Amino acid sequence: MKSISNQVLTSALLTNMVKNQWDRYAYIYERGIGQGGDTLHDNLIDPLIFKYLGNKKYQTIVDAGCGNGYLLKRLSGLADLVIGLDYSIKLLETAKRKISGNRKIKLIQTDLTKQLPLEKASVDVIIANMSLQYLPSLKVFAEECQRTLKKNGLLIVTVDHPGHFLFSRAQELAGKKDPHFIEADSYFSERKFKKNSLWGQAVLEYYHRPLKSYLNVFSRYLRLIEVDENSQDGETPRILGLLFEKNG
Ligand SMILES: C[S@@+](CC[C@H](N)C(=O)[O-])C[C@H]1O[C@@H](n2cnc3c(N)ncnc32)[C@H](O)[C@@H]1O
Repeated sequence: MKSISNQVLTSALLTNMVKNQWDRYAYIYERGIGQGGDTLHDNLIDPLIFKYLGNKKYQTIVDAGCGNGYLLKRLSGLADLVIGLDYSIKLLETAKRKISGNRKIKLIQTDLTKQLPLEKASVDVIIANMSLQYLPSLKVFAEECQRTLKKNGLLIVTVDHPGHFLFSRAQELAGKKDPHFIEADSYFSERKFKKNSLWGQAVLEYYHRPLKSYLNVFSRYLRLIEVDENSQDGETPRILGLLFEKNG
């Protein structure tokens, strides 16, 4: 593993990467999420993550797609080392400001669709918190979770529930198009879409995939322990939570 200090490291792999939307919207994201997360994180996402983490202490937790790093300090209360991975330099800079002085937290600029800058069997928990819907493919990330997790290590996933998209498609078919979703399609379509996002201040590109795609890609390498479907209104699914464990 590259030596990492409490600073952002730039990978040569990334120099040719297309301009990413998260750099463009980093300011808006930081303003909306801030130190502690927005209401979606507070009410639906973070409770899942901390339920899956339980009251245990860990050596190493990886926050894969850490964004502005709102979760890092909280995670550092549960682990000796917390590693925040993200490819947005601008978001990593906001994360760096948040963690200043905390020597238990490292940040590394990383593309989650490539090999992770982590040693084999070195990580207790990988958290992919609302980041996987921005990856064009999950295959390499799933393989990398299998490679880098210790035996009995955990993968925690939160994503926009794919059924949220389905609900919007149903509204569209009923002539009540949800302005949030610029385009909707069959629940089973697996491709890039655009939606109005970030509190109505940005158009984001994301990858919709049906539930089975999330389950199948990780189940090839890890054992599924728990599935949660959190809702804002008690009727429609909003956030999908998945907990996997590495057996062998
Ligand atoms: C919706 S934000 C979530 C950030 C944070 N986990 C949270 O919940 O607030 C999605 C994050 O995924 C990161 N991301 C998207 N694609 C990525 C990739 N290929 N490699 C690394 N990070 C990526 C973005 O930079 C962004 O920080």
